[in-house]
Amino acid sequence: MNIIKAHNLACPIDGKSLQQTDKQFVCKNGHTYDIARQGYVNLLPVQYKRSKHPGDSKAMVVARTRFLDTGIYQPIATKVNEIVSALIINDKDVCILDAGCGEGYYFSSLVTFLSDRANSNNVSFVGLDISKDAIIQSTKRSKQISWVVGTNRQPPMLDESVDIILCMFGFLSIEGFNKILKPGGKIILVDPCPEHLKELREIIYPEVNKVEPTALAPSDIAGFYLLQSETIQFREKLDNNELVNQLLVMTPHFYRASKEGREAACNLEVLDITVDVTFNVFEKVTS
Ligand SMILES: C[S@@+](CC[C@H](N)C(=O)[O-])C[C@H]1O[C@@H](n2cnc3c(N)ncnc32)[C@H](O)[C@@H]1O
Repeated sequence: MNIIKAHNLACPIDGKSLQQTDKQFVCKNGHTYDIARQGYVNLLPVQYKRSKHPGDSKAMVVARTRFLDTGIYQPIATKVNEIVSALIINDKDVCILDAGCGEGYYFSSLVTFLSDRANSNNVSFVGLDISKDAIIQSTKRSKQISWVVGTNRQPPMLDESVDIILCMFGFLSIEGFNKILKPGGKIILVDPCPEHLKELREIIYPEVNKVEPTALAPSDIAGFYLLQSETIQFREKLDNNELVNQLLVMTPHFYRASKEGREAACNLEVLDITVDVTFNVFEKVTS
């Protein structure tokens, strides 16, 4: 597989194609976007921001990096790699977007996995997240990915130019994804199932909210049909307080929990967890 640069980034202001110069991306209407020294580009205009620092905070990003680097969630990465790999048809140019890529663990694992495949596809990778801290962290994982600060609501990519969109534990924007996906393009949605991290939730919310909100029903995605659906479930032991805290901080539960619930979880030295995750592949209907 040959990794090529993404050539389908679009100006977030007027949607025109962005061309890369030495240190900038520029559209034909003269809007320019500097390439940061870490190698990413910020395509999130201020009018698309709903807060000063949207998305995950630096503390969440750091906690997630440390937790994921232990390899505890490796089976999730392995499953994503298998699914994407099976979707790539030989000899075709392919663009893959990780929409809400976080700190880049899963996407960089995918790049490494696909790089070892001996076929002639040209593949480009775009990692998009609204959190600048997450994207800065991502740039340390791979230099072969185009890392972009931007929003899933208006992904800064050309219409019908993306083959596969990964959306893992993230913010699904059907309208935004539909616009940039080629006809026949795929969305791979990875979401928690009801048993996911139930042990943590039982401690944080002793009386309520034990069940993880259910993943989106396939029928909710107009203009797409469900191609494939799989679930994986496994158990792991978190055997120290630091690991439990990293898991807590990287999840939304940290902010949702009461002070008491948070403290109870923060003080744990050991926690057995169930990981229960679903992988749904949707194909865009060709008109
Ligand atoms: C739970 S994290 C998952 C990160 C990564 N996909 C993973 O599984 O490790 C959700 C991510 O979505 C990002 N996010 C939230 N709203 C977003 C939006 N509108 N557009 C793009 N990313 C967004 C957050 O900054 C965060 O990095």
